[in-house]
Parts: sequence; structure tokens; C-alpha cells
Amino acid sequence: MEKTDYLPVKPSQIHLFEKTPFYYQTKEGGFLLYKEAGQRLDRERVKEKKYPDLYIAAKDKDAALTELALVLNMELAAGIASKGLAEVKTALGRIVEEALTPRQAKILNTLPDTVQILAEGYSKDPKSVEYLTRIAGHSPLIIEHTVNVTALILQYCFFHRLDEARIKQLMLCGLLHDVGTSQIDKAIVEARKKLTDEEFKIYTGHSVLGHDLILAETDFDVSVATVALEHHERIDGSGYPHGTAKITADSRLIGIIDCYEPLTYRDKNFRKAKKPYDSLSLIKEEVKAGRFDKETFKTFTSCLIK
Ligand SMILES: [Fe+2]
Ligand SMILES: [Fe+2]
Repeated sequence: MEKTDYLPVKPSQIHLFEKTPFYYQTKEGGFLLYKEAGQRLDRERVKEKKYPDLYIAAKDKDAALTELALVLNMELAAGIASKGLAEVKTALGRIVEEALTPRQAKILNTLPDTVQILAEGYSKDPKSVEYLTRIAGHSPLIIEHTVNVTALILQYCFFHRLDEARIKQLMLCGLLHDVGTSQIDKAIVEARKKLTDEEFKIYTGHSVLGHDLILAETDFDVSVATVALEHHERIDGSGYPHGTAKITADSRLIGIIDCYEPLTYRDKNFRKAKKPYDSLSLIKEEVKAGRFDKETFKTFTSCLIK
């Protein structure tokens, strides 16, 4: 057997799998069964890390990702039901992490379940959504950003009483708007300093990469891919990747939320996080300069300042 026939299991996920068989590598380089399908690793053994490096067979990859998505969505639903904001943030962060891992189309296609759980779960408790963005997560920047953008979208949707189909579609747009970053060097995506011109040029590629990935790997509404492509475009044509001024209403909205999130919640080394009002003031300057749409800005602001 070749090593490429087996894929390593992340230590943080070992306890999550039951249906998926695990393998380990022998000294001679072969792979042997470690646990059968239907067995779960003993909790104590996991806690004490009493296991070798574990692998799944490449042929089981899709089934394993399906199991993983199911378990993570269950954690998410349990967090919402128990009003555990930190639990929800962690579970959603794990889901986004998987969605932003290359070659995991299977996960992308389970995101409608995630969106369903969030929209339905919080429909009975919309107030809690507002607090989701306020507690700090411990995930890498891009994951934290995506989780916050998605929570802000949900807050927007509830405030404006959008129907269920619209809520789900907008949330998918939020979850996947930066999915193209999964194809870009992590050091650039996670940089905590201002990017060089060369690095920024590479970073801007995430719009087209995300758009193409969504079209190729999912059958989601085309608006989801369009938002990935257009969320850095500006209505005066000053954005990227194409410098086009004509962008969809969803792209205009998510473009503003995408800008608001890091201004408000990020404390990068070269920039201090701001109060919501101050972030909105900065974005308002962009509105005045003609880069963001005035009406869209107003509808977003109204859901934050009530
Ligand atoms: Fe982006
Ligand atoms: Fe973004």
C-alpha cells in the first residue's frame, strides 16, 4: 500500500469518528487496521493520547467527511439549544475550518445543513445572535472572520424579517465568500502585518478562486459564487478582481459586512479594533466617496443600531 492511500486524522478529531475505520502505520511502512467501523476510541485513551498516528483509508474519505460534518453539525445544534455561545462559536469555527480545507467538496455540500440548523435554531432566540460576534473565538483569523460575517448576516436577516429561503441563501454566501483563501498560502491569509504589494496581489486571487471552486464543486444557487467573486468589488469600479461597478445587491451587502467585521472585531498588530459606531463611521466615508451603496449601508446599519 502507498502512503497516499491513507490520510492522517487530526488529533483534535480522533474522538469524533465512530463509523470510520482507522489505520496505523507499521515499522515496515505498511498500514494495519486500528479500529473497525462502528467502534469509537476509548475516551480515556484519547485524553491520554495513548494511540499511534492514525489514518483513514483514502477510499473512505468521503464517508469520513460526511460523518465529520454530521457530528460537527450536531455539536452546533446542541450549542444553540443550550444557549452556549462559546460552544456555537467553536462548533461553527470547526465547520468553517473544514470548509476552508482544500479538496473537501463533500464538506462544502453539507453547509446547507449547517445553515438550516443556525437559521432554525436561532429563529426562536434571535437576540442571542447579536452576542455571537461579541465573544472572542480562538480560531485562525480567516475562520473567525467567516464565523462573524455569517453571524452578522443572520442578525441582518432576522432584523429585516427575511424569509427562510433568503436567510439560508445569504448565509451560504457568507460562509463561502472567502472560500478561495483555502487555495492561497496560509502565511499570506493569516498575516498579522500589512501585506507587501506582491503578497496582496496573491491574496486578491481568492475572489476568482472561490467563485470557480463553488461553481465546480457545488450546485448552490449561482448567487453564492457571484458573492465570492464580487465581495471586494466597489460600486465606483475601484475594487477587485475586475474593477466592475455593476455588482449584485447581495455582493453589495456582503461587501459592507465583510469590511465591517475586521474593523470591529480584529486587533491586528497594525490596526486596533474599533467600536461598532467608529467602524460604521469609517464605512460611511466610503459611502460618501461613492464606493459603497448608500441604501445597503443604511439597511445594514439599522440592524446594528436600533
Ligand atoms: Fe474576501
Ligand atoms: Fe471576507
